[in-house]
Amino acid sequence: MKIVSTVKELTAIREELKGSVGFVATMGAMHNGHLSLIRQARIQNDTVVVSIFVNPTQFLPNEDYEKYPRREEADLKICTLAGVDILFMPTCEEMYAKTEPEILAPKNLAYILEGSSRPGHFDGVLRIVLKLLNLVRPTNAYFGKKDAQQLYLIQNMVKTLFINTNIIPCDIVRESDGLALSSRNIYLGEKDRVQALALSIALKNASQAIMKGEREAKKIELIMLESLQDLKVDYAKALSRNFEAKEQIIVKETILLIAAFVGNTRLIDNLWI
Ligand code: PAF
Repeated sequence: MKIVSTVKELTAIREELKGSVGFVATMGAMHNGHLSLIRQARIQNDTVVVSIFVNPTQFLPNEDYEKYPRREEADLKICTLAGVDILFMPTCEEMYAKTEPEILAPKNLAYILEGSSRPGHFDGVLRIVLKLLNLVRPTNAYFGKKDAQQLYLIQNMVKTLFINTNIIPCDIVRESDGLALSSRNIYLGEKDRVQALALSIALKNASQAIMKGEREAKKIELIMLESLQDLKVDYAKALSRNFEAKEQIIVKETILLIAAFVGNTRLIDNLWI
């Protein structure tokens, strides 16, 4: 595995690559969720490129940028074992200039749900993903469905800015008890860890109600809220897969989305119906 930290080196290596390139963008602190993206990229491409970069522009001033888990040594091991060919680990100075054009995510999509409690977050995400896609020029780029809104915004950016990369959505990886994997799970204490199960339970209860024939979005949202009553809920929504509110749920066109605080940790989860 080649470890690269400058744009110049990465560009030179990319020039020489033949065949398909699979790309996984990460902020490090890797878990099995990242590993599953890398494994899929490994199976489907000649070369696998992974980036680790804790992107400051997607954190709000009051958020955990400084505290965000950094586990370089463990990440290097995971990447080596997973058969990554090129690991890109740039500095902030390498990725950002003092003055550069601003990338603004579409207001209607980026200021709802995650974007409503984290205004500007998706501008930072799209800004860095665009830079990374321009540098790596991957054939296929792999993003987890757990960050469903991020995935949708990236798909929208790639389509509308005519970027020549296939965005491959990858399934959520869960612990055996249902908790969706997240780098932020390490913040959960013992009690929080048990309480956090309410998110996946809420999704399960809602999906069972849909399977039994309930189609009213508002009722499904209430079912999720009931299961989340011990948590501070940010949102529990049943939306169309293009993030529009609908009165009626249509199977294969719906996504259930939850964000809730467990202690001080904000967790998200979703289920594609
Ligand atoms: O999902 C993440 O880890 C980040 O938002 C991403 C896509 C790597 C951009 O920094």
